[in-house]
Amino acid sequence: MTLYGVGLGPGEADLVTVRGKRVLEAADVVYSPGRLSRSVALEHVGESKIGDLEFPMTRDEEKLRSAWKEAAAEVAPRAREGDVAFVTLGDPNVYSTFGHLRRTLAAFHPDVDLEIVPGVSAMTAFATALGVEIEAGAGLALREAAGGASPTGPDRMILFKVTDAPATHEGLVEAGYDVRYGRRLFMEQGETIITDDPADLAERDYYTLAYAEKAALEIESATAAFQADADADESTSGEGPIADGSGRPTELGSSPEPPDGGKLLDLERAEGCEHGDCGGHR
Ligand SMILES: C[S@@+](CC[C@H](N)C(=O)[O-])C[C@H]1O[C@@H](n2cnc3c(N)ncnc32)[C@H](O)[C@@H]1O
Repeated sequence: MTLYGVGLGPGEADLVTVRGKRVLEAADVVYSPGRLSRSVALEHVGESKIGDLEFPMTRDEEKLRSAWKEAAAEVAPRAREGDVAFVTLGDPNVYSTFGHLRRTLAAFHPDVDLEIVPGVSAMTAFATALGVEIEAGAGLALREAAGGASPTGPDRMILFKVTDAPATHEGLVEAGYDVRYGRRLFMEQGETIITDDPADLAERDYYTLAYAEKAALEIESATAAFQADADADESTSGEGPIADGSGRPTELGSSPEPPDGGKLLDLERAEGCEHGDCGGHR
């Protein structure tokens, strides 16, 4: 029988793939490494099917390794007897906890059969949510920006783990990038924010990404002339659609609700750890 790594997508229950849903429904147990993935899984299966796995909130690699060994020891016998699923937000192969489980199983339980069901990753969902088009011929790099880091170099980058947006912003702008941010995109839990103002994101939230594009970048596609015509029409009619592509009434520069006195901060820390991301450990 099989262990399925199932990508749940960015957070909204109906962004789970048809295949992912089928696998979850057929699985004997659905293991979840965190609260958010658990709540998405619960939209598709009953609570009795959920198997929680404990991960310590620590950066200590030894403790994390032993937690993964325990998790693998729990999952392996169930996956030999029947079909089980391990869910992750986004895609199981993109900066995901599933990698830890896969490597631990390969080391200690190599006989367990494994199959992966891809999920809609924040890596692609961001484009729709932020109204970004990565047009034919363009390059796009994926980087991490935890702790206020500002990686630079590529013309276009998606930055994950933007935990200190103001500091990251400063470095990127200095290096000549235009930057837009997305928080909790296509997520049911928490407030979705799309903004180009890092002050809107001063409160830390693990589920924040950035899209950075070199300001001087010249983009010329074959159909660009159509847009110029449309812009001219809009300026004469005085109307112009503001679309961020997410289908929500958000717009760049919108302000978030006031912070909740630190509860969210604790939750985010816990979520980061639950994703195997207690800092530096991969
Ligand atoms: C450990 S990575 C997991 C990525 C996930 N496996 C995927 O494919 O989307 C977590 C980072 O992805 C980004 N992220 C994931 N889901 C997001 C969402 N719904 N909205 C904004 N950023 C998200 C954030 O930058 C977060 O720090």
